[in-house]
Amino acid sequence: MQKTYISRQSQWWKDAVVYQIYPRSFLDTNGDGIGDLNGITLRLDYVQALGANVIWLCPVYASPNDDNGYDISDYRAIHPDFGTRADFERLLGEAHRRGIRIVMDLVVNHTSDEHAWFTAARADRNSPYRDYYIWRDGRNGTPPNNWGSWFGGSAWEYDEASGQYYLHIFSKKQPDLNWENPAVRGEVFDLMRWWLDQGVDGFRMDVISLISKPEGLPDGPPDGEFGDLSPLCLNGPRVHEYLREMNAQVLSRYDNMTVGETPNVTPAEALRYAGFDRGELNMVFSFDHTSLSDGPLGKWSGQKTDLGALKAVLANWQLALHQRGWNCLFWSNHDQPRAVSKFGDDRPAFRARSAKMLATCLYLMQGTPYIFQGEELGMTNAPFETIADCRDIESVNAYHRLVDGGSVSGEQMMRYIRQAGRDNARTPMQWTPGAQAGFTAGTPWIGVNPNYRQINAEAEQADSDSVLCYYRALLRFRRNNPVIRDGDFVMFYPESDSIFAYSRQFDGETLCVFCNFTDAEAPLPYTPPRIGQIVLRNYSEDAPLCSLRPYEAVVYYAEESGEC
Ligand code: GLC
Ligand code: CA
Repeated sequence: MQKTYISRQSQWWKDAVVYQIYPRSFLDTNGDGIGDLNGITLRLDYVQALGANVIWLCPVYASPNDDNGYDISDYRAIHPDFGTRADFERLLGEAHRRGIRIVMDLVVNHTSDEHAWFTAARADRNSPYRDYYIWRDGRNGTPPNNWGSWFGGSAWEYDEASGQYYLHIFSKKQPDLNWENPAVRGEVFDLMRWWLDQGVDGFRMDVISLISKPEGLPDGPPDGEFGDLSPLCLNGPRVHEYLREMNAQVLSRYDNMTVGETPNVTPAEALRYAGFDRGELNMVFSFDHTSLSDGPLGKWSGQKTDLGALKAVLANWQLALHQRGWNCLFWSNHDQPRAVSKFGDDRPAFRARSAKMLATCLYLMQGTPYIFQGEELGMTNAPFETIADCRDIESVNAYHRLVDGGSVSGEQMMRYIRQAGRDNARTPMQWTPGAQAGFTAGTPWIGVNPNYRQINAEAEQADSDSVLCYYRALLRFRRNNPVIRDGDFVMFYPESDSIFAYSRQFDGETLCVFCNFTDAEAPLPYTPPRIGQIVLRNYSEDAPLCSLRPYEAVVYYAEESGEC
């Protein structure tokens, strides 16, 4: 008989503000040029002062680092680059002491090819581990199907010794796990329990919508040669069954939060992953808003995001999930360019103002804010000159595929990389105006952005008008105003191509948010609701609200409720 478990999950994640840490680039304490766990522990007060109460820790597990830790060779071991188990325990304890929870990255669509399961699987076709992965015979000397890998080339790698191909949706050092095998699910659930038993507070689940592959692994539409996934890999037939099993066996028995990474997800599909009534996950990341600037070469494009499209997408998600699910509010992460460079304006005259505007616009919507390290400083994209400045496997592979293949010139590709490459997010955190931005006493694993002398935490802490201080005020305001957590969402001026404005209403209160996404003065198309009390504004000089100044953001309570 099926047992029913009373879920131990409370809904604290609705009040969470998540600070995402990419440990390799956060703070190095031993001079090896690589950020480490002790560096994070040292900066917990900084995270707390910002107003975040959850840290999402990107992978810190043992890994050969083909994809910077997203290729895990031992799920229970800490990579020596990052420190020891004792360092981890200290970090967790110190975080909890400050009321900060820690959510781990769970990367279980694939392992590293150096994981013991894969070495056993590869060494012996009869090993019980063989079926932990997805092996197929070729088709007349070609791969079993036409799927492409996210990082370029076929998604299949031929294994000479055993005469079969294995599937790798990412690099060939990231073989996909076979979730159809109950033993694999058992292993994953075990390792999740193991971490939860140590006291971690949940998981960000890497490409979790890819774990169920379509029956028979058929050819998909001709693969985008630009590192697109075969759409057949997304939201496979058994994915919800697996997540419910995971929820019943693991998640529902702990007090934790879960967020799934789900590329190309629609709101309807998101509600299947994370609807309140589903018993799967708490929320999922949608990339609808980050992919609006894609062009014919996918993310490698010179396009800017169109404000009309951005407004439509974000409003759509607000409305579709209201009272049925929960949004993730993010502009950037370790796979995205810097928020202010992509969605705002990183020219010195506008950088700080537009960074504040962006935070205001997004983090007052319904959902859980995710702040990627350095975003709270208004850190910008980096001026990578040549591909030798880059470390990211995705950018390096794409460079060779597209430039060596003759699709674009090297200069053009570098422009694309400066605009969209993942390394923009991975340059070291800018702590001080001193050597290497205070990130390391040694040589950093990737170059520091040269603008650290102007943009750094030390300077911003001392300047009450800084992006950092604005973030603190914004998050403080958010914490104390339930309308932000619970209110509905109504957009003003949907047709405006310069202003993003909306109201949130709850319990007789109406909060209004007005943002100018351009570098020019923008008149309001019609008179907004009467101002009761202005609670936030990214200009210190007052001005009547009949137009918005460049990148201006104004937040106020309307005088008469219900009259927006
Ligand atoms: C996710 C991660 C990304 C990684 C990929 C493969 O998209 O965020 O960094 O390369 O999965 O694990
Ligand atoms: Ca270090």
